[in-house]
Amino acid sequence: MKVRIAAVGDIHMGEDLRGRFRPRFAGIEERADVLLLAGDLTRHGTEEEGRVVADEFRDLPIPVVAVLGNHDYHSDAEEIISVLLRDAGMIVLEDQAAVIECHGETLGIVGGKGFGGGFAGKCASEFGEPETKAFVRHTKDIAERWRVALKETPADHRVVLTHYSPVKDTLEGEPKEIYPFLGSYLLAEAVDAEGADLIVHGHAHLGSEKGLTPGGIRVRNVALPVLGRAYGVYSLKEDLNV
Ligand SMILES: [Fe+2]
Ligand SMILES: [Fe+2]
Repeated sequence: MKVRIAAVGDIHMGEDLRGRFRPRFAGIEERADVLLLAGDLTRHGTEEEGRVVADEFRDLPIPVVAVLGNHDYHSDAEEIISVLLRDAGMIVLEDQAAVIECHGETLGIVGGKGFGGGFAGKCASEFGEPETKAFVRHTKDIAERWRVALKETPADHRVVLTHYSPVKDTLEGEPKEIYPFLGSYLLAEAVDAEGADLIVHGHAHLGSEKGLTPGGIRVRNVALPVLGRAYGVYSLKEDLNV
């Protein structure tokens, strides 16, 4: 049987949305083997909002793997939010890998928040002020950690889960002026170097769903406003309708 991956990002939950998503995930175990959450799970990254997210996805019948997004960092409570989500039974990735078993095969999920910097030819470089260097180095360090995690994760299939985008394709619809704050080509370069079957990301609410890395890996923007449905479902080779 095919491994089926459900994914959504940018649910931006707060107390007013408590209980609103859970019914939309009823029966997900019949449609997918794992649910990936691509960051921006809260609005302002508060502990209270983190509790709402944790309760919403607590003890889902399939494994839930999440990364945080920039909103989830806003109140400096990202570590508390991660603990709350883990206590609710979720796996939270911070530039690491998790391996889960699906239909007797192993699925390696590598991921983290990612970061920006822009895309080849139109990107920031590690030059000039220390602040600029720190910005670019943050993305480079993340990309390198993903490359190592992919290299060191023996699994039958591999998926990358990120908040920021690794490609421009899935930003189509966003103003070009903000592309450097939406993702970085360094992320795609790292994944292309080691190989993966699929990359899912969020963050670009006005972007589009489908793209490809230069190395030909499928990229899907699963931000909730882009999908327009509770979650997308993807196999390792094709998109599945729900
Ligand atoms: Fe978002
Ligand atoms: Fe975001």
